[in-house]
Amino acid sequence: MARELASVLVLVLPFLLLVWRTGAGGLDVDKLLFGEEYDVSAPSSLPPRLNLSRSSPPTGGDDEWKEEILRLARRPEAVEWVKELRRRIHEHPELAYEEVQTGRLIMEELDAMGVEYRFPLAMTGIVATIGTGEPPIVALRADMDALPIQEAVEWKHKSKIPGKMHACGHDAHVAMLVGAAKILKAREHHLKGTVKLLFQPAEEAGIGAKRMIEDGALRGVEAIFAVHVSHEHPTSVIGSKAGPLLAGCGFFKAVIKGRQGPADNPRHSVDPILAASAAVISLQNIVSRESNPLDSQVVSVAAVNGGSNLDLVPESAILGGTFRAFSNASFHKLRQRIEEIIVMQSSVYKCSASVDFFENERFYPPTVNDDIMYKHVKNVAVSLLGPKNYKDVPPMMGAEDFSFYSEIVPAAFYYIGVRNESLGSIHTGHSPYFMIDEDVLPVGAAVHAAIAERYFFLLEQG
Ligand SMILES: *[C@@H]1O[C@H](CO)[C@@H](O)[C@H](O)[C@H]1NC(C)=O
Ligand SMILES: *[C@@H]1O[C@H](CO)[C@@H](O)[C@H](O)[C@H]1NC(C)=O
Ligand SMILES: *[C@@H]1O[C@H](CO)[C@@H](O)[C@H](O)[C@H]1NC(C)=O
Ligand SMILES: [Zn+2]
Ligand SMILES: [Zn+2]
Repeated sequence: MARELASVLVLVLPFLLLVWRTGAGGLDVDKLLFGEEYDVSAPSSLPPRLNLSRSSPPTGGDDEWKEEILRLARRPEAVEWVKELRRRIHEHPELAYEEVQTGRLIMEELDAMGVEYRFPLAMTGIVATIGTGEPPIVALRADMDALPIQEAVEWKHKSKIPGKMHACGHDAHVAMLVGAAKILKAREHHLKGTVKLLFQPAEEAGIGAKRMIEDGALRGVEAIFAVHVSHEHPTSVIGSKAGPLLAGCGFFKAVIKGRQGPADNPRHSVDPILAASAAVISLQNIVSRESNPLDSQVVSVAAVNGGSNLDLVPESAILGGTFRAFSNASFHKLRQRIEEIIVMQSSVYKCSASVDFFENERFYPPTVNDDIMYKHVKNVAVSLLGPKNYKDVPPMMGAEDFSFYSEIVPAAFYYIGVRNESLGSIHTGHSPYFMIDEDVLPVGAAVHAAIAERYFFLLEQG
């Protein structure tokens, strides 16, 4: 997750056609698992869409897929393998767009499984493909990058790279997705479509998701899912919600230019400090006076800098900060108003200003879960792990570049708990003390695989 881990738009549903689906041999697995019938879209130009709105958490029915997926994930040798893979990645953390060794490990594992992949996308990214090679195509995503943090956890597999650490759990994300690849490959004959596994660089900085999309990672993809580890939930508990889940997150840095001059006779200078001060006050009015109080937003000025000589009006001043919002419209509105206010307040004081929003590095729209895809995640989690292991969660102020995918195709983002008091995995992401309960890894792999496999079962078979 980008920045402090902590933590809209519903895509307009295409024209839907109600189709009753009957499974082979008259046994309709999906009816048993997901309620009676469901809608499937007309396959005109738009991809088929699910309508799970009448579905209830599945009960009874054919449990073969669950048992088989969990059995594959929990084989002792598979558990050892996935933990060992995660430890190897943890020991060699790599920052944004430098995930070379991580990528090599992934490709070695994919080669060993006989899984095909495309490389590179977005410099260091990989897209693996399992299934029929035909549509429908569903995508699962893992991010690969680490953080510039010195690990403070003393354990056998501590980071071997000074100043770098997998403090956000992306090592676990990679291991779980490679684990899912193994399960899906073993069940390839059950897949009624194609699963794309996106191993993405640069989530923490550099918006790797956007580059992956530019390099064609979503081509033909009609839905995408991703998981993030969370220290807030007990090991292997799944959490998600419909609609906005993570904030849109942007940063700004303004340079306000005046004219240097003696502070004892200021009429010969143009004062950027005064302009910056006025801008700081005016920026507070965006949220308090212009935004809907029911639509959570934040604008914080976190840095002000200018001058060093107590007897001189400086040439320029710098101010900067961050802004957050949970809808695309509010997020872009904040960006626009921050720029207007800083530029205009500066001109009131005869200064000029330019504002940088770092749009190619750290500019993340809100992460918004599609209602139907959210429901699919919940149904699969409840079905696979039981109702006690799923909970709806509140939205969080953190941000994720997964939002770039969720802007384009129906998507769901969910958490998987890694909290275990007795192990000490209680620290937030981006903490030097961050750690996970590795027992999460096989479960995460199973949930990934089940979400993809069951997605096809919900679609019309034609
Ligand atoms: C989905 O199904 C429910 C129940 O049949 C229906 O009320 C709803 O309108 C459907 N949604 C769409 C988008 O067609
Ligand atoms: C978000 O808002 C911006 C600015 O209004 C717009 O350009 C962009 O297309 C929007 N994105 C989506 C997914 O609606
Ligand atoms: C925490 O980890 C220990 C050691 O692996 C395990 O025995 C225990 O069941 C775990 N607790 C939870 C809540 O998962
Ligand atoms: Zn993260
Ligand atoms: Zn993070």
